[in-house]
Amino acid sequence: MSEATIESILQEKRVFNPPTEFTEKASIKSMEEYNKLYALAKQDPTGFWAKLAEKELHWFKRWGKTLDWQPPFAKWFVNGKINISYNCLDRHLTGHRKDKPALIWEGEPGDSRTLTYTQLHQEVCQMANVIKAMGVKKGDRVGIYMPMIPETAIAMLACARIGAAHSVVFGGFSSEALKARLQDAEAKLVITADGGWRKDKIVPLKDAVDNAIATDVPSVKNVLVVQRTKQDIEMKEGRDHWWHELKENASTDCPPEHMDSEDLLFVLYTSGTTGQPKGVVHTTGGYNLYTHMTFKWTFDIKDDDVYWCTADVGWITGHSYIVYGPLSNGATTVMYEGAPRPSNPGCFWDVVEKYGVTIFYTAPTAIRAFIKMGDEHPNKRDLSSLRILGTVGEPINPEAWIWYHKVIGNEKCPIVDTWWQTETGGFMLTPLPGATPTKPGSATLPFPGIIADVVDLEGNSVGENEGGYLVIKHPWPSMMRTVYKNDDRFRSTYWEHIAPKDGKYLYFAGDGARKDEDGYFWVMGRVDDVMNISGHRLGTMEVESALVSHPAVAEAAVVSRPDELKGEDVYAFVTLEDSYSESDELKQQLKQHVVKEIGAIARPGEIRFADALPKTRSGKIIRRFLRNLAAGEELVGDISTMEDLSVLDKLRQG
Ligand code: WT7
Repeated sequence: MSEATIESILQEKRVFNPPTEFTEKASIKSMEEYNKLYALAKQDPTGFWAKLAEKELHWFKRWGKTLDWQPPFAKWFVNGKINISYNCLDRHLTGHRKDKPALIWEGEPGDSRTLTYTQLHQEVCQMANVIKAMGVKKGDRVGIYMPMIPETAIAMLACARIGAAHSVVFGGFSSEALKARLQDAEAKLVITADGGWRKDKIVPLKDAVDNAIATDVPSVKNVLVVQRTKQDIEMKEGRDHWWHELKENASTDCPPEHMDSEDLLFVLYTSGTTGQPKGVVHTTGGYNLYTHMTFKWTFDIKDDDVYWCTADVGWITGHSYIVYGPLSNGATTVMYEGAPRPSNPGCFWDVVEKYGVTIFYTAPTAIRAFIKMGDEHPNKRDLSSLRILGTVGEPINPEAWIWYHKVIGNEKCPIVDTWWQTETGGFMLTPLPGATPTKPGSATLPFPGIIADVVDLEGNSVGENEGGYLVIKHPWPSMMRTVYKNDDRFRSTYWEHIAPKDGKYLYFAGDGARKDEDGYFWVMGRVDDVMNISGHRLGTMEVESALVSHPAVAEAAVVSRPDELKGEDVYAFVTLEDSYSESDELKQQLKQHVVKEIGAIARPGEIRFADALPKTRSGKIIRRFLRNLAAGEELVGDISTMEDLSVLDKLRQG
C-alpha cells in the first residue's frame, strides 16, 4: 500500500450510519444489538457457536465436545456427523425453496443458465456418482481446474457429498503451478473443462492439464472434462472422460456421506513467505457453520435476495461466499464467467440490472478499474435493486469507497468492508450492515465470537492509533487446521511470531493494523514478504524462484511497488549470469517466463537489471531499499548494515 493511501486513511474521519430504511428491515438493527451479541459471544465463545450450530445446521449425529483446543490445533464439534452438501442442498428441497434459483450463471459470450435447488441437487448427485465410479473415495483429493461455470460449484459439492476433498486451482494459474499443487495434494482425479472464456479469448484449460500431468504426477488416474468452449482438445483414451457423456446414465440419487466434523473438506493453496505455496486445510463442520453465519449476518440475507460475488471460485472468496455460505443459507447466488474488459466496460452493471442483484460483493481493484472506465457505464444501467455493497481483498482507499457508495450504491447501500484470509475461512472483521456505522477504509469491528487485537511482538496490546500486528485471540470454527502435510510450517508461520500472552496463543495474520478511538480496525497491509496484486496473494519468493529458474538469471529480488489500479505491482531486480547481456528482449523473455511458471497475475510490471543486490553483511537482501527504489522514493533506514555501499550508488543511478 502506498504512503499516500496510508496517509489518507489516517486522516479519514467521515462516518456513515446505516440508512434508517435499511435498519428497519435488518435482522441486527443497532450497535446496541451488536454489542449485546458480541458480549455474549465473548463471554463464552464455545457456547455461542454450539448454540448456533444446533440451530442453523443439520447434523446426522450431534457432537460431543464443542471445542478441543491443543494449541495450535483445534477441533470443533468433536465426533459430530455432518455433510456440507446436504446443508447446501438437500435440506432446502422440502419446502418453498425447492424451485428457488440456487445458482444463476452468466457466461462471458452472453449465454446463461439458472439452476433451481432441485436441479442443482440432481446435477451434484450425478457428478458424485460419476466420480465415485472412477474410484474416488472418501478421503481422496480431487483437483478442480475450471472456468467460472456452474459445473465448478457442482464439482466442489459433488466431492463434498462423497467425502472427497477438493483442491481448486485458479484457472489463471499456469500448468507448472497446477502441477506443483496436484503433486502436493496427491490428487487422484482432475476435473477441468476444454476451455473457458476470459476477456474475449479462450483459455485452454485442458491443454494446461495435459501438460501438468504429462510427467511426475502419478497420483492422477482420471480427468473429467466439462465441455464449455468446444474447441478441439486431445482426449486420452482411458484417462480422459467427457462429463456430458457420463452424465447421461448417471443416477440423480447419491446419499451424502456422513462426514466427521473434522474430516478434510478442502485444501486451498495460497502464497506465503517461501517459494512453495502452502496447502491451507479446512475441515467440515466448523467451516460450514462459520461461512453460514457470516454470510447470513454480514449480508443480512433475506429470502428474495439475489446475491452476487464477483470473485473467482479458485480463491477462498469463491469457496466461502459464492458456493458454501450462500447455498447453506438457501440463497440465490450469481456466478459470472466474464471480467470487465474494454470491449464491454459495462458488463458488471448489465448483470446487476438483468438479474436484479440486491447484494454485490467485489474487490477494490475492480472498483478502481470501474472508476477509470467512467461513470457513464453504471449510470446508463438501472442499479436500483442494490441494497448492500461489499468489498474484500485489500485495504480500500477512501476515494474508491466514496465512489462505490455514491455511483454504485446511490448513497443508500451500506458498504461492508470485510477483512479475512484464506486461512480464516470467513469474515473476521466486518460491519453488520444494519448496525455498524462505517468509516471509509476501515473493516470496522470483529464479527461476534471473534476476539481480535493489535499487538506488539510480545503479545501486548498497543495503544490507540498505534500500529502493530493484527492477531486473533481465541479459536474460531472455520480457522485453518494446518498446512497440508506440514504441521511444522503451520506452527511456525502463524503461531510463533508473537509470544503467547498469559499462556494464550495468538493467531498471527501477517497484516499490520491499528485500532482507532472507537475500537475500529484499520488494516494496513502485509508485514511479511507477501504481495497483494489486484487483491491476489503472491509471495515475493515465488516470483524470485520463477526468475532464477531461467538460465540467464543469477540472482533475483522481488518487491512490490504501489500501483494505481492493482494496488501493488511486481517489481523485480535481476542480476544476470556472465554469458548473458542486458536487453529489452531479455526483459520480455523473463516476464514471459514468470507467466509460464506461475500465471499471468505474477507477470512483473517492471524488471530492472542490476550488477549486484543490496545485502546485509550476513548476506540477506535488504528489500526495504529495493522497495524505496521501485517506488522512486528516497532510501529510508539504516544503511550501516550494508555489505557494499557502492551497490546502492549504482542502483540509484541505474
Ligand atoms: C490478505 C488475505 C479473504 C479474501 C481475499 C483475499 C488482505 C483481505 C482485506 C480488507 C484490508 C484485506 C490482507 C489479508 N485483505 N481483505 N478488507 N482490508 N486487507 O484472501 O488471498 O488469503 O489474502 O488480503 O492482507 O491478509 P487471501
